[in-house]
Amino acid sequence: MDTQMNIRDAAGSKEQAPSLWLRIGFWGCIVISVAVVLRRLSALAFPPRSAPLQLATLDAVFASHATLTLAHILPALAFVLVAPCIVFRKPTDAAWPNRLIFPLGGIVGLTAYAMSVYSVGGWVERSAVLLFNTLFLVSLFCAYWYGRRGEYRLKRRWMLRAIAILLGIATTRPVMGIFFATSPLTHLEPSQFFGIAFWIGFSINTLVIELWLRSRDRQPPSESS
Ligand code: HEM
Repeated sequence: MDTQMNIRDAAGSKEQAPSLWLRIGFWGCIVISVAVVLRRLSALAFPPRSAPLQLATLDAVFASHATLTLAHILPALAFVLVAPCIVFRKPTDAAWPNRLIFPLGGIVGLTAYAMSVYSVGGWVERSAVLLFNTLFLVSLFCAYWYGRRGEYRLKRRWMLRAIAILLGIATTRPVMGIFFATSPLTHLEPSQFFGIAFWIGFSINTLVIELWLRSRDRQPPSESS
């Protein structure tokens, strides 16, 4: 019988569940992602009249390309709501999350490239988007490819990688929060720190998932059903 510490993959073998810290990080990223989408939707629908200057300037930037912003954030919201079904799924779970995650991920990735045309953080942010968004899309494609070939362990490995990289967008937010909070001291503007926050946030998630996947590789082979 499966214990709480193990999840069976589609091939039937047991997989070590992520540690408590990883699970907290994962759910934290999901909550932040949902919150930023809700905040952006509300700012687009009801532009706040008395927002601080930096925030009001950002709101105006995203309102200037509202359609593209919506085309990015609504599929992104759906992706992060479906992602837990993939990460914590049981073998008996329905196939619908698998069917949704690939087209949603494709739309998020392609619209992210388009969003970076208007990037607040200029080329520093754009370079981070080019690298990590491409890593995300390549990982998603590999997951799809291995899934088609019936190689479920590799499919899952690439899918976890794709989801973790995508959730790097959530890790950028507390980093931005620190930059905003310290801006009276540092005098840094969003145009100066957005790019740095993107590099830090996505690097953290990419590094954490790689380290976790490699630490899992070093564990003794799990039993098969
Ligand atoms: C591969 C993953 C992603 C990349 C590379 C990416 C990239 C971007 C870029 C470049 C922008 C424009 C920022 C600017 O103009 O400076 C943006 C905006 C935005 N993204 Fe994403 N994104 C990704 C995933 C997500 C996810 C998963 C969510 C939430 C579920 C999300 C929510 C938003 C929101 C709400 C905005 C509007 C700006 C704001 O309100 O802060 N993105 N994204």
